Amino acid sequence: MTRHFLSLSDAGADGVAAILVDALDRKAARAGLPKGAPDADAPLAGHTLAMVFEKSSTRTRVSFDMAIRQLGGSALVLDAATTQLGRGETVADTARILSGYCDAIMLRTDDHTKLLEMAAHASVPVVNGLTDRSHPCQIMADLLTLLEAGKALPGLKVAWLGDGNNVLASIVEAAGLMKFDVVAACPQGFQPEEQAIVAASGRARVVADPREAVAGADVVMTDTWISMGQDEAATKLAALAPYQVTPALMAAAKADAVFLHCLPAHRGEEVAAAVIDGPQSLIWPEAANRLHAQKSILRWCFGQIG
Ligand code: CP
Ligand code: NVA
Repeated sequence: MTRHFLSLSDAGADGVAAILVDALDRKAARAGLPKGAPDADAPLAGHTLAMVFEKSSTRTRVSFDMAIRQLGGSALVLDAATTQLGRGETVADTARILSGYCDAIMLRTDDHTKLLEMAAHASVPVVNGLTDRSHPCQIMADLLTLLEAGKALPGLKVAWLGDGNNVLASIVEAAGLMKFDVVAACPQGFQPEEQAIVAASGRARVVADPREAVAGADVVMTDTWISMGQDEAATKLAALAPYQVTPALMAAAKADAVFLHCLPAHRGEEVAAAVIDGPQSLIWPEAANRLHAQKSILRWCFGQIG
C-alpha cells in the first residue's frame, strides 16, 4: 500500500519514533560532508520528488530539495501559477500525471481537501508540505530539535502562545502520539479547531492566560499571527498583542526552557527580538533540522524504515 505522510497519525507513534531515530543516525553519519554530497548509502538513488507549491516557501522548498539530493535522488519544483493547476486542471488529474513521471509528490496548498484529493488519486507517496490545517513536517523537525536538546518527549510540557493555527494543530497531534502535554494560550476567536484538540487524546488544552500556559513549561512555541492566505486584520493583531512571547513570559517557564518558532518570524509581533535571538532560542537548529527530518520522512514513505 502507498504510504502517504499527510498527518503525523499516518506514521503513528511507532513511525514517528522510527523517523526520529533514523534522522538522528543519518545526520551523525554524514557529519562533515558538503551539504550537496549524497549519503554514502544513497537510499533513494534514482528517485524523483515533485514539489508543488500553491503558497510561498523558503525552508520547505530548499530542505526537501536538498533532502532528496542527499538521499541520492532529485527534485522538481512546480507552482500553481506556471502549471495547468493554475488554469483549473484538477488536483486529481495532476496527481495521476505526476505519478506517471515522479516517485513521490510533496504538496503545499491553501486547502487541506486538495491534499486529500492529491493522495486519493496519486499512485506514489504524497507528503503534506503545509496546508491551512496542519504542518506535520515542521513538527517532525521540532521533535528532532527537542531530542537533540536533551528533552525526552514523554511528559514534556509545551506552551503555545498566539494563534490557534496549522502548526499548533500538528504539535497537538504529536502530543497525543508521543505522550507530552500542550497548553495553548489563544485569545477568543483564534483558538484551534475542536477536532485538533480531540486528536491529542487528552494531552492538550486551551487557556486564555499566557502566564498559565508558560508556567512550568519545558518548551515555548509560537508562530506568525497572520498565516499565508489570511487577511492582515487589525482586530486579530489587537487580540493577539498580549500573547507576544516576551522575556518576562520566558522567565515564567522552566529555567532551562527552550523557544521554538517554525519561521518566518515577525520580531516585535508574536515574539520579542530578545527571545527569538536570545540564548533559549533554538530556531536555527530547528530550521536546519527540516532537512534531516524530511529525509527520514521520505524514507518512511518508501517503506525503508518503520
Ligand atoms: N517553516 C516553514 O515551513 O517555512 P517555509 O514557509 O519557508 O517553508
Ligand atoms: N502558520 C504559518 C506557517 C508558515 C510556515 C502559515 O501557514 O503561514
